[in-house]
Amino acid sequence: MSAPEGVHQAVILVGGQGSRMRPLTDTLPKPMLPLLDLPFVERQVDHLHRAGVQRIVFSCGYRPREIEDYFGDGSSRGLEVGYVVDPEPLGTAGAIANAEALLADGDVFVLNGDILTDLDLTALVAHHHHLGAEATIALTPVDDPSAFGLVRTDADGRVTGFVEKPGPDDLTPGEPYRINAGTYVLAPSALTEIPRGQQVSIERDTFPRLAARGGMGALASDCYWRDIGTPASYLEAHLDLLAGRVGSIASPGSSWVSPRASVDPSATVGSGACVGPGARVGPHAVVARCVIGAGTSVGEGATVDGAVLGRDVTVGAGACLTGPVVAGDGATVPDGMAIRGPATVPTGAVAST
Ligand code: GTP
Repeated sequence: MSAPEGVHQAVILVGGQGSRMRPLTDTLPKPMLPLLDLPFVERQVDHLHRAGVQRIVFSCGYRPREIEDYFGDGSSRGLEVGYVVDPEPLGTAGAIANAEALLADGDVFVLNGDILTDLDLTALVAHHHHLGAEATIALTPVDDPSAFGLVRTDADGRVTGFVEKPGPDDLTPGEPYRINAGTYVLAPSALTEIPRGQQVSIERDTFPRLAARGGMGALASDCYWRDIGTPASYLEAHLDLLAGRVGSIASPGSSWVSPRASVDPSATVGSGACVGPGARVGPHAVVARCVIGAGTSVGEGATVDGAVLGRDVTVGAGACLTGPVVAGDGATVPDGMAIRGPATVPTGAVAST
């Protein structure tokens, strides 16, 4: 499949601090956190590549080295990959404009680096060209838009307005609640619209200006969509993958154990458990509905259910982690300790009750 009418380039925004994902983002930028066997952002790169994209620019800020070291110049994947780094926080629009020097003339996809979706990119481009829009955004339905930006459109799929964090008075009963899904196609004129050398948000500054002059399209779809912004949504994304809910990615089964992990034959790997490379699950341990990072060890008789554990975490023998417990890289839970979430064990720390 190739993108019609020539959208062969993309910018992926990967420069945010990922503060809601701490402590997992203390040591890795959010887009490099693994989803099963691959860094999350690699799934976006594959999605773009399958849609005919040849050139990808990562717009980096926080911890750019991890991303550059992983993707290099892209040639091993048959791609051209480049990098720009925010000299200071530029906001989402500033970060896109910063990538301009590495882009060819023409339209460009822009992806927020923390969205897992199987959106039909070809349909997005077709809608963009059909409207002759300057920018076209994908929309996703939500039950409650109050934490998001509500996007309103006319019958042709042109944006008529944005309402940031709408309150009850902003909502019309019965209207579909659709929010910005973090995937865009921008024409060169939309890039020109972004002022240089200052912090600019594409959602709050640029898009409303383009919409006001009738230049913005929006395509609603019911495809799979998840914003991986918090440890809870990160765990849910794993569960979605296991359940086969992400159309473009085959489910590996009701749980996943890396071929490079070791699980004692007497341990129980329950539904929703994801065990990363080099992890060890000891005798009679029970793991379920959890993410166990690379090199993490779950001791004899320990239970991990509902937790997200970073890399090289040590869960002592007989320890019991239940509910939303998040442990940063190198954290330790002593033998026999019980922690019921919500709870966080900071990076490198020893948990205390
Ligand atoms: P929080 O700190 O938890 O809000 O996460 P975040 O820093 O990732 O912010 P947010 O989820 O709003 O960002 C959406 C996407 O845009 C993410 O992929 C970020 O990496 C990226 N992003 C946000 N702000 C910037 C920025 O100023 N520069 C660049 N290059 N990318 C950004």
